[in-house]
Amino acid sequence: MGAELITDIGELTTNLPDRPRLSEAALIVESGRIAWLGAASDAPAADTVTSVGGRAVLPGWVDSHTHMVFAGDRSAEFEARMAGQKYAAGGIATTVRATRAASDAELAATLTRLRDEARRQGTTFLETKTGYGLDVASEERSARIAAAQADVVTFLGAHIVPDGLDARAYLDLVTGPMLSAVAPWVRFIDVFCERGAFDVEQSREVLEAGRRAGLGLRVHGNQLGHSGGVALAVELGAASVDHCNALTDADVDALADSGTVATVLPACDLSTREPLAPARRLWDAGATVAIATNCNPGTSYTTSMSYCVATAVLQMRLTIEEAIWAATRGGAIALGMAESPDSVGLLTVGGRADLQVLDAPAAAHLAYRPGVPLTAAVWVGGERVALTPSW
Ligand code: NIG
Repeated sequence: MGAELITDIGELTTNLPDRPRLSEAALIVESGRIAWLGAASDAPAADTVTSVGGRAVLPGWVDSHTHMVFAGDRSAEFEARMAGQKYAAGGIATTVRATRAASDAELAATLTRLRDEARRQGTTFLETKTGYGLDVASEERSARIAAAQADVVTFLGAHIVPDGLDARAYLDLVTGPMLSAVAPWVRFIDVFCERGAFDVEQSREVLEAGRRAGLGLRVHGNQLGHSGGVALAVELGAASVDHCNALTDADVDALADSGTVATVLPACDLSTREPLAPARRLWDAGATVAIATNCNPGTSYTTSMSYCVATAVLQMRLTIEEAIWAATRGGAIALGMAESPDSVGLLTVGGRADLQVLDAPAAAHLAYRPGVPLTAAVWVGGERVALTPSW
């Protein structure tokens, strides 16, 4: 296919610093990239023309935190939580048992189902993690299956200490043979720094081993309490620290003065009935904020970035523009995907043509009409992958 002109865009969100939002706009997609963008009235000719009829266009979502390689269902645990039970890290063991028992084909099919579900809702760049295998063979196959379908894979062998092992023996496994086995498939290493999982010194050991192996660092930190995960992530220069629910003023200041992205996970906060992460406070302090789904069967079984964006606006008090930026550009920075030529999370000439059309005249409808599936069409790398619009 040659050049495609996408025109009659009522509102175009680019995330470009000098012109973040254009009205009455158009863009040209060619060879997977954006060849031109600007006022519709100035658009050059192209081989094909797609009119979006005044609808809003924005970058595809960058979902920078998911756990999609798993088997089994934990709706009973969810139901008990909705009846008052607290979330605890121990539920992870249920999914580990189901994941170990599943075939490669079953795990791959679940990942395909969730990835496609996410794409239909506008996600064009996806991270996923290991972390439900927790032995060398199961983590290696999780990483391999993830790498076949996700854009970025993170090694989360240090999710919990599995049944039957003590922490010391398991840390030796994670930082030794398990890390070597997954290394060909993964770009980041992660650790669940939390009560019931790994403490700060154990987390440091895991992250330093990952760094020696050439991996970028991320941390699950300060989800259920003041775990020290945020301070550790900043100290080690991690790409992101995710959850960030229980923060001291010092944590917020440290994030604001660092290159570590604070990733908030609104759907998880609601599904665990934990206090929402203080996204407004982080943003106002100057921290770089990302929004992600945290899709997993325990704490956040949704692929909908739009739902997370709506929640971030309605309940975390980000503006529409801030929430969209955090769910696109913020995620890209968290994944080390902010630099050209392959940067994601923005629409710029020469950049990847990863974009979505909303069945709405303005991106504000994402929170104005919460819960409505507004994504009407999606392009990934210049290819239309989801939904035939009705216009
Ligand atoms: O990010 N917090 C740690 N890991 C997941 C939960 C996984 C689970 O409960 O299965 C999370 O919320």
